[in-house]
Amino acid sequence: MLDLLIQNAALPDGRSNMSIAVRGEKIVELSAGLDAPARDVVDAHGRLLSPPFVDAHFHMDATLSYGLPRVNASGTLLEGIAVWGELKPLLTAEAIIERALTYCDWAVARGLLAIRSHVDTSDPSLMAVDALLAVKKQVAPYIDLQLVAFPQDGVLRSPGGVDNLKRALDKGVDVVGGIPHFERTSEQGATSVKLLCEIAAERGLLVDMHCDESDDPLSRHIETLAFEAQRLGLQGRVNGSHCTSMHSMDNYYVSKLLPLIAESGVSVIANPLINITLQGRHDTYPKRRGMTRVPELMAAGVNVAFGHDCVMDPWYGMGSGDMLEVAHMGLHVAQMTSQQGIRDCFDAVTTNAAKVMHLQGYGLEVGCDASFVLLQARDPVEAIRLRANRLKVWRKGKLVAETPEVMARLQLAGRPEAIGFSHP
Ligand code: FE2
Repeated sequence: MLDLLIQNAALPDGRSNMSIAVRGEKIVELSAGLDAPARDVVDAHGRLLSPPFVDAHFHMDATLSYGLPRVNASGTLLEGIAVWGELKPLLTAEAIIERALTYCDWAVARGLLAIRSHVDTSDPSLMAVDALLAVKKQVAPYIDLQLVAFPQDGVLRSPGGVDNLKRALDKGVDVVGGIPHFERTSEQGATSVKLLCEIAAERGLLVDMHCDESDDPLSRHIETLAFEAQRLGLQGRVNGSHCTSMHSMDNYYVSKLLPLIAESGVSVIANPLINITLQGRHDTYPKRRGMTRVPELMAAGVNVAFGHDCVMDPWYGMGSGDMLEVAHMGLHVAQMTSQQGIRDCFDAVTTNAAKVMHLQGYGLEVGCDASFVLLQARDPVEAIRLRANRLKVWRKGKLVAETPEVMARLQLAGRPEAIGFSHP
């Protein structure tokens, strides 16, 4: 007897009429047209069953704090950092935990079941670190929350930065972060990259740095990051987040940089909603989009994921934990409008992001966790186009969220009574 059998599902790889059989927490069979006794049988009606959405870049210590203590008037990255600096002395662990748990509720409802969140380690009390470690434990039954020790004020620039970061890692933070472009000089930035990669190598940890989040074509810390990943044997364990300067770099230089990133096994995370909003702010016209070179990185063999980065915080007032909204913006900004390009954007918020996080048991395969999302869409392209409704979300065999089918009712003579925006 199976615990759960989902029938007549479409999978992201294009297979249709698929059945997924679940026993306990695992997928035990996956084949076309399977019928077997099960405690719970769900007819997917040909709709898309996807592995869960994964956000590989987020800031859960700041989320849902929009307007506290004031709104970022200019909308720039630097004013955002200043507003965050004003909020920090007013933060309490209870408020951080409450906002983070609310965001995690939103995430589950959106089928977002794995999040890599940076946590600011600049404050010597490490209050935010303790708060998010508590959240990580509390949400573990429904969300894989991975934490990155993130020295927002610069690991070298801020007093005690290295010590605070190491203490955060001692407490159980999973990943080493950094912000080389925010250090005082380019040289200090490069020194911070080297130092932080060495800390990760010593401790056997992954690396994820905010790298070159600027419009400066000469901000080239991604090069140092890739070089250090190779030098220290960290291939496949290092990620460069944002890399927006690559948008503005000289094309000849990029033709040399891309193979270095690919060889070093460094992955890249673009944050389309935030990059398009924060970058190009010093431009008049034309205004740069600022997002890194996503299709070019993918073509060079680099694993590229999309992150949400911010939801209702000092940097960004929008968002609701919807990774399809992220993919939707990503494909527009990168002009990835071919069918393959759109599917690549779907992968950027699912499988590619799972690879960045080194998630175990992720995917729609026999032996993987029975965690998946049934969407009100037939394929990944339609899912992004509609930012489709999440009908059902399962985590390790357990149903954790449901949203009723969304249909618009029409009152037009001779026209259908209800529509769901599906292309005939
Ligand atoms: Fe970020």
